[in-house]
Amino acid sequence: MVDNTLPDSSSNKKQLHLWEQAARRQQATAIAHPNIAFIKYWGNEDDGLRLPANPSLSMNLGSLYTKTTVTFDQSLPNDTLTINHQAVTGPALKRVTTSLDLIRAEASLQLAAHIESESNFPIGSGIASSAAAFAALSVAGAAAAGLHMDEAALSRLARRGSGSASRSVPAGYCRWDTGTDLISIATSIAPPEYWGLRDLVVIVSQEHKAVGSTGGHQLAQTSSLQAARVAGVAKRLQVCQEALLARDLSTMGPIIEEDAIIMHAVMMSSRPPLYYWNPTTMAIIQATQQWRSEGLGVYFTIDAGPNVHLICEACQAEAVIAAARKIPGVKDVIASEPGGSARLVA
Ligand code: PMV
Repeated sequence: MVDNTLPDSSSNKKQLHLWEQAARRQQATAIAHPNIAFIKYWGNEDDGLRLPANPSLSMNLGSLYTKTTVTFDQSLPNDTLTINHQAVTGPALKRVTTSLDLIRAEASLQLAAHIESESNFPIGSGIASSAAAFAALSVAGAAAAGLHMDEAALSRLARRGSGSASRSVPAGYCRWDTGTDLISIATSIAPPEYWGLRDLVVIVSQEHKAVGSTGGHQLAQTSSLQAARVAGVAKRLQVCQEALLARDLSTMGPIIEEDAIIMHAVMMSSRPPLYYWNPTTMAIIQATQQWRSEGLGVYFTIDAGPNVHLICEACQAEAVIAAARKIPGVKDVIASEPGGSARLVA
């Protein structure tokens, strides 16, 4: 676990200074927040470029973050990686090297790098840890390589590492559009302070999931429901975006639940099927309906894992957290408000 106090480095002037300093030192540290999708991304048009089958909409989670330092070093024969202070090799290192290779190619740089990454939340269990990881890696890597990339270029770069990472680059509430490599990027539709929604992440398992989302996206097409899911996304996204901009949770809530359930129906009907839920996941879904009938304005969504994200207004968060903690099997509840953009902190 890392220190939860983040330095205030968000002003443009401070960011410019940090980007210049990073280029001189060939070292940079960035933080990025994970995000929760209200309208989900599932399945690619192009797996290599991670061009999504549908547009998606999300909120950055300001209380959770990944902090990544990239140091290019001429004494290193190969890239090295630590995650939460543990040395990591194999496929995870390969994926990071592949992202850094895009940066090295653009910067005409041949140096290997040391990458240190730490997160203040459980990774690999449906809290979009790869989104925060690849957004932070893209910002730190680009800065340490001396590149001057704008938000669109960083979002595109992050997308190549993990699709949803594109949405962790801009601030607040973000939409990621489909299209070609150049135009499939995420943009902010509203800053974090626009609406103080809460995401209460109900942890029912901290285990690393058996099938990650990269493998899952490749299975989407094997479900006979995927075409119907994709066909309905444009309408759901429009309703969700309008409701979000109107700060209307009673319209937005049923749409985000429907969109999550349709995605999980695709997962469960893929070949082979993907079942991410456990019995406590289902218990929380049913409890959410019960709480609503008792007057709480709370709605669920679920990513590629068993943990449930409960979305509500700030004024109801305490009551929802207390109710969720009473459900047998619930290990923890992590509360988050909307978060800012991926940015340099050193
Ligand atoms: O970015 P990936 O490849 O980890 O895929 C994320 C997929 C979901 O979290 C299930 C949905 C989403 O839009 O974030």
